[in-house]
Amino acid sequence: MLNSLFRKKSIDKIISDHEQGLSEGHGGGMKKVLNVRDLTLMGVAAVIGAGIFSTIGSAAFNGGPGVIFLFIITAITCGFTALCYAEFASRVPVSGSAYTYSYVTFGELIAWILGWALILEYSIGNIVVAISWSSYFNNILQNIFHINLPEYLTTGYQTAKHVYTDAIANGQPTDALLYATAPKFMGIPFIVNIPAFVIVVLVTLLAYIGIKESKNTANFMVGLKIVVLLFIAVIGIYIIFTDDLTGNWTPFLPKGMEGVLKGVSAVFFAYIGFDAISTTAEECANPQRDMPRGMINSLIICTVIYVVTTLVITGMVNYKEFEGVTDPLAFVFDKINMQKVGTFISLSAVVAATSVMLVFQIGQPRIWMSMSRDGLMPKSFSKIHSKYQTPWFATIITGLVVGIPVLIADDKLMTDLTSIGTLFAFVLVCGGVLVLPRMANKPGKFNLPYVNAKFIVPVLVILATFLFRVRISEAFSNLGNEGYQEVLFLVFMVSAWLIGIFSFLRNYSLIPVLGMLCCMYLMIEIPAKSWLVFFVWMGLGLAIYFLYGYRKSNLANE
Ligand code: ALA
Repeated sequence: MLNSLFRKKSIDKIISDHEQGLSEGHGGGMKKVLNVRDLTLMGVAAVIGAGIFSTIGSAAFNGGPGVIFLFIITAITCGFTALCYAEFASRVPVSGSAYTYSYVTFGELIAWILGWALILEYSIGNIVVAISWSSYFNNILQNIFHINLPEYLTTGYQTAKHVYTDAIANGQPTDALLYATAPKFMGIPFIVNIPAFVIVVLVTLLAYIGIKESKNTANFMVGLKIVVLLFIAVIGIYIIFTDDLTGNWTPFLPKGMEGVLKGVSAVFFAYIGFDAISTTAEECANPQRDMPRGMINSLIICTVIYVVTTLVITGMVNYKEFEGVTDPLAFVFDKINMQKVGTFISLSAVVAATSVMLVFQIGQPRIWMSMSRDGLMPKSFSKIHSKYQTPWFATIITGLVVGIPVLIADDKLMTDLTSIGTLFAFVLVCGGVLVLPRMANKPGKFNLPYVNAKFIVPVLVILATFLFRVRISEAFSNLGNEGYQEVLFLVFMVSAWLIGIFSFLRNYSLIPVLGMLCCMYLMIEIPAKSWLVFFVWMGLGLAIYFLYGYRKSNLANE
C-alpha cells in the first residue's frame, strides 16, 4: 500500500505519451501559439493586480518607504522558486504546473496533495481578486456614472457579518450596519456581491472560448496596466521633486525591519501568479526555451514596477496616512486634488484585476485536465472542446468554484489561504528539484545553476538561530500561552536545522534549498487560525483521494 501511494510517472513517459498523442481527444491538439513575449506578458498579467492596487496600502503604513526592501526580499524568494519552476518546465514541458512536477519527483500522493493545494492558489486566489475588482468597479460606477448600487448587492455576506460581530465585540452600535439593515430572506440577511459574480462569469466565458482570444485580451490588458503604472511613476516623481516632498522618504524605515516584515503576506500576494504560466506549456511554441525566460522576465518587470510604485506613493504622501487605505494608488492622487487621475487609476485597477483573473481562470482547468488524464479526477475534466480547443468542462467547473463563493466570501481568510496554498506548492517545487536526477547541460534548454549548499546553508541556519535567539527562547517559554503561531515558528526552526544537516551531508543545490527556506519562513508568518482551515481543506482532499483517485489512477490500473 505504502509503495503504491508514492508511485511515480516517469518524465520520459509523460513526454512520449504527450508526443504520441496517446491522450487524443483528451487534451491532444491544443494550439501552440504562445512565444516568450506572450509568456512574459501573461506572467505580468497574472502578477500585477489586486496586490499592488490595494494591499500595498497596509504594507506602506506598517513599513514606510522601506517596504521596498520587502518587495525585493520577496522577489528574491520568488526568483529562487521561479528558477526551480523553470528547471521543471524545461524538463517536463506539459500542462499541469507544480502538480505534474511533483508527480515525477515525489509520486502520486504528494502530487494529489499539491494539485489540491493549487486550487487554493488559483480558485481561491481568484475569489480575492474578484472581490477587489468589485470594489474598484463600484468606485467607477459612483464617480463616473453616478450609479449607487445598494450595499447589500455589492458586499459579501461574510464580510458584513465580520463587521457586525467585531462591532458587538468592541461594544459599538450595530443598528446602522449592513448586516442589521439588509433585507431578510427566511430570516437571514440577504447580502451578496453581484459585480464579483458577474465578472467571474464573463472571465469564465472568455477562458472557455479559447486560449488565443484570451491571450490577445491579456496582452492588451497588460499593455494598459503597464502604461498606467508608468504614468503614475512619471507624474509621481515629477510631483515629488517639484513640490519638494522628498522629506516623506525620511525616515526610510520609520518602524524598523519589524514594521516592514508586517507586510509579508500582503506583499507576497502581490507576487503570486508568475508560476501560472507554467500551466500553459502545451500551448507554447518552444516551452523548454521560452517558459523559464517568460517567468524570470515577468518577475523582474513586476519587481521594478512595485519598487518604483512604492517609492512614488510613499513620497507623495506620508506613510502614516495609509492606515486602512485599500485603494492607495487612487488615494495619493485624491490627496493632492487630482481626483480625475484617481478615477483613471480605479479604471486601470479594474483592468489589472481582470487580467489576473483571466490567467488564473485559464490555469485552474489545465491543472485539473492533467489530473484527469492521470485518472485522479473524472475523465470529463480533460475533455477538449472540438471547436474552441479548450478544456471546456473543467473551465465551467472552475467558474462555479470561484463564482458561487464569491457571492458571500470575505477576502481576508481567502487571502491567507491563497498564500499558504501557493507557498506550500513553492516549497514542494523547490524540494522536488533537489530530488531530480542531475542532467548534463543541453544547449538551448534551461539549466539551473548548481552551487553547492554544503557549507553555505548550515552557516545561514546557525546565523538565523543566533538572530532569532530571543524569539526562540520566548517561543519555548510562551508555548502554553501563545498557542499555534509559536509552534509554527519552532517547527520552522527545526525544519531549517534538518535542511541544513541534509545540505551538508548530500551537497544539495543552493538555489532550491534557499527557495524552500524562504518560502517556509513566509508561510509561518501567516496567522495560525488560517492554517487550521488549510489543514481541514487538505484533510478533505486526502479523503477524496482515498475514495476516488487512489483506485482510479492510471498507474493503479496499468
Ligand atoms: N498577484 C496577484 C494580484 O496581486 C494575485 O492580484
